[in-house]
Amino acid sequence: ILDGLCAQPADPLLALIGMFRDDPRPGKIDMGVGVYRDADGKTPVMAAVKAAEAILLKDQQTKSYLGPEGDARFAELLTPIIFGDVDAARLCGVQTPGGTGALRLGAELLARGRAGTRVLVGTPTWPNHVPLMEAAGLKLVPFKHFDVATQALCFDETLAAINAAERGDVILLHGCCHNPTGADYTVEQWNTLAPLIAERGLLPFVDLAYQGLGHGLDADAAGLRAVVAHNPEVLVAYSCDKNFGLYRERVGALFVVSDRAELIQSNLLALARANWSMPPDHGAAIVRTILDSPELTASWRAELDAMRLRILGVREAVAAHDPAIDLTRQSGMFSMLSLSTEQIRALREVHAVYMAGSGRINVAGLTPDAIPAFAAAVAAVR
Ligand code: LMR
Repeated sequence: ILDGLCAQPADPLLALIGMFRDDPRPGKIDMGVGVYRDADGKTPVMAAVKAAEAILLKDQQTKSYLGPEGDARFAELLTPIIFGDVDAARLCGVQTPGGTGALRLGAELLARGRAGTRVLVGTPTWPNHVPLMEAAGLKLVPFKHFDVATQALCFDETLAAINAAERGDVILLHGCCHNPTGADYTVEQWNTLAPLIAERGLLPFVDLAYQGLGHGLDADAAGLRAVVAHNPEVLVAYSCDKNFGLYRERVGALFVVSDRAELIQSNLLALARANWSMPPDHGAAIVRTILDSPELTASWRAELDAMRLRILGVREAVAAHDPAIDLTRQSGMFSMLSLSTEQIRALREVHAVYMAGSGRINVAGLTPDAIPAFAAAVAAVR
C-alpha cells in the first residue's frame, strides 16, 4: 500500500526554522515563522505562564483524562475575552490542539454538515489554510484580499466575492493581525461586512490567532463581535499559542455560536474523539490557571500589551529609518513586502535576512540594532 506514496517537500515556512538555526553568520536576522521576539531577539516564557506552571506543579493532583472537550473551564474563561457579552446558551466550544486543531475541527464540522461545502478565502492567506480545508473535503474559492505592489487591502474585491457567493457558502475571515499581510479590515469595514454576510446567507468562520497583538484584546475582537451580532451562526477558531506565548504547547479552542449549540457540541465531541480523542492538557491548564487568578490575568495582560507596543514601535522605527519601507499601515506580527522570489532568496543567501517565500516578514523578528542592516539589505536587493 505504501508504494503509492510519493515524497513530500518540507513545509517551506517551517523549513526556515532549521535553515536559520544552521546559518553560522553573525548578525543574521530571523523574520520567518510567526513567533514573538523581544528587543533582545528572545521568545521568553511569559511571567504569568511561569507562575501558573509553578502552581500546577504544586497543586495538580491527577493527570487522568478530561474528555474530548478538554478543559471546559479554559474555554469558559476565554469566552468573555473573545466575545465580550454573549448568550451562553447559544455558544458551544471545545479545547483543541492549537489554532490549527480548531481550524481542522471546524472544517470537519462544515464537511459533515454538507459535503463539498465551498469556503471563500481572501488571498494571500496563511498557507496551511489550504491543505487543511481541502483535507477536510472543503472547496476553497479565493478572492483577492491584499495587493502587495500597492500595499492596499482590496475591500471592493471582498464585497464582490460576498455578493457573488451562493447561499450556504462559508467565508473564512482573519479576525485580526492578518496572516500573512497584516492588512486588517477597519471597524467601518467590519460593520459593512458583518450584515452583508448575513444578508447573503453565508456562514462566517473567523480565525482569531493573534488577539491582543494588534490594537489590544477588545479592539482585536471587534470585527468578530460585529460578525456575531449580525449572523445567526458563526465558527471561531482561536489560538492561545501567540498571545500566551505557548507555541509548542498547542493551545486552541473552537467555538460555535448557534441556536443549535447542543447539537453542534455533540458533533464537535464526536469529531474530536475521532481525531485526537482528547487534546493535550498542559497549555490549556496554564491558561485556565492564569485566567482564574486576577493577579496572573493582570500580569498576562500587561506583558501582552508590552509585546504589542514593541511590535508597533518596530513598525514606526523601520519607517523612520527608511520611509521606503512603511510598515505602519498593517497590524500584528506580519507585513508583506513586495519582493520577487529572487530578491527574497538574495536577502537570505547574501544578507542573512530570513523571511517567508511570499515576502511575509515577522516584524517582531527585528531587534533595534538590526533595523539598519535589514533596511540596507532590502534596499540592496530592490
Ligand atoms: C506562522 O504563520 O508563522 C505560524 O502560524 C506558524 C505556522 O504554523 O505556520
